[in-house]
Amino acid sequence: MCGIVGYVGPRDCTDVLIDALSKLEYRGYDSAGIAVFDNGKISVAKSKGRLKDLENKMETEGRPQGHAGIGHTRWATHGEPSDINSHPHSGKRVTIVHNGIIENYKKLKDFLVKQGKNFLSETDTEVVAQLLDYYYDGNPLETIIKTVHELEGSYALGIVFADFPDTVYAVRMESPLIIGKGEGESFIASDVPAILKYTKDYYLLEHGEVAMLNRNGVKFYDIHKREIEKELKTADWDMDAAEKGGFEHFMLKEIHEQPESIKKTIAPRISDGLPCLEECGITPEKLKSFDKIYIVACGTAMHAGMVGKYVIEKLARVPVVVDIASEFRYRDPLLTDKDLVIIISQSGETADSLAAMRLSKKLGAQTLAIVNAKGSSIAREADMLIYTHAGPEIAVASTKAYMVQIAVMYLLAFELALASGAIDESQCRQLTALLQSTPELIEKILEEKKQAQYIASKLITADSLLYIGRGLDYALSMEGSLKLKEISYIHSESYAAGELKHGTISLISDGMPVIAVATQTALFDKTISNIKEVKARGAKVVIVCRNGYEPEKDVADYKFGLPDIDDILMPMTAVVPLQLIAYYTSVLRGNDVDKPRNLAKSVTVE
Ligand code: AGP
Repeated sequence: MCGIVGYVGPRDCTDVLIDALSKLEYRGYDSAGIAVFDNGKISVAKSKGRLKDLENKMETEGRPQGHAGIGHTRWATHGEPSDINSHPHSGKRVTIVHNGIIENYKKLKDFLVKQGKNFLSETDTEVVAQLLDYYYDGNPLETIIKTVHELEGSYALGIVFADFPDTVYAVRMESPLIIGKGEGESFIASDVPAILKYTKDYYLLEHGEVAMLNRNGVKFYDIHKREIEKELKTADWDMDAAEKGGFEHFMLKEIHEQPESIKKTIAPRISDGLPCLEECGITPEKLKSFDKIYIVACGTAMHAGMVGKYVIEKLARVPVVVDIASEFRYRDPLLTDKDLVIIISQSGETADSLAAMRLSKKLGAQTLAIVNAKGSSIAREADMLIYTHAGPEIAVASTKAYMVQIAVMYLLAFELALASGAIDESQCRQLTALLQSTPELIEKILEEKKQAQYIASKLITADSLLYIGRGLDYALSMEGSLKLKEISYIHSESYAAGELKHGTISLISDGMPVIAVATQTALFDKTISNIKEVKARGAKVVIVCRNGYEPEKDVADYKFGLPDIDDILMPMTAVVPLQLIAYYTSVLRGNDVDKPRNLAKSVTVE
């Protein structure tokens, strides 16, 4: 969630660093800074606020001029957002930028204070800078290795040593870091979009590795200071993919990319009309060998797991437990080697989800990761892995990643149901064909986005609202509620429609908006009676239902109609109006849709 960049080469380093950091803004941040070798000295500029604030500060206080340096966007963990807490942080001879958390920073800080070190900030990062300084003996690599041996936590570092001008070091201990390779220039970055303007070629720094970048190129070392060779990768994302493509916001672009993302994700996993997940290390025999399935994730990814639960249990008749990763990892889960733990994560770096997966492996369960970010930690450590192919998801609010996560849930459910004999081959073919038809249905829904904008205009003054539904509609309403909260800042909660009468219905006041999802035929009449209960108490009801249903006045005020498809596939289409309603509500409220306050795209700390 913090962003690290670095550069060595012939260009104006400050320009490159600022540009690269701007491509990481989506990660969410509250301050930024750079350190550049300027006439042989390390010149630091940093500021609370946006990159613009940093640039303004450099206009007045001086803009570092050089060809090598490091940069950072900070999402505060230790110490409030402020100039002094912004990165880079320095010791006498060393300056660093940092992403992650140093868990034993207090103990180290106490030791360093006893050694006479003075601290200016409240950050754990400054402790690392001072520790590097403490160990510095004129040999940067030696110093780095000694220091990282003392550090506990997950982090990535960009480091410059005053005695080694035009040289940048990078260290990865869990938190992601890549090394970009250009013509006569090299880069470090927390994520690929930062360097795409300059090169598509990069190395993936692995856990415990160090990189040294200078005018002669890049060298890599392991934790034992041995030089190592690494494989050069090429990003399959071009700048367009990381730009907005003509849409006002990344989020709207990504909502529109959903049909394409579904196709890219499911097509390679369907052979002869049936799901085929062999390339992910998943065979039908292996799938049906499990007694129980856990789905563990955070936020939107967990909501995708909720859809997965309903679908897998309904079709494959296998028990599924869905858990929030930050709860799962601390509740001593009763796992055995007959259990499958599915970890869903767009970024593949969410600290709680990564920890939940490691705990599951430690307890002997098999782990399957469903991840969008290639080469991410969760992707690399899982026993089995299904990559989703949504491409870069820049908006903090996840949309297309959620869509492809549930698409994979369907493939898994179909394959498991067929393997266990719960459905026969023709049923499996039919369900798979239905899944393949959803991109077209979503295109149709996107043509009706003005209706979502109109509905949003009725919500923007609300203080609070409810999302209600039953079964899969309830699972879906969780995601609808989170989408609205995180980008419009309007409080909402999702509630099982049948549970309202057990207390929550007392919240209904005159004009309070209620968004009711009613797509499940078998539960439709019951859901309608729950809607009537809230309508009768003054609620302003928006119903998301099939096109064919025309709600009476005592049911709903507004309707978003959906094309027909089998009940079990409705989440693939019904989520789109919920995403659009949240998007337009945020836009109408003048919020920063792609970078909502307080949020980060990837929560790599607890
Ligand atoms: C999505 O809209 C949210 N911003 C957030 O809940 C996200 O889904 C969650 O942090 C999990 O992230 P991951 O999928 O990268 O693990």
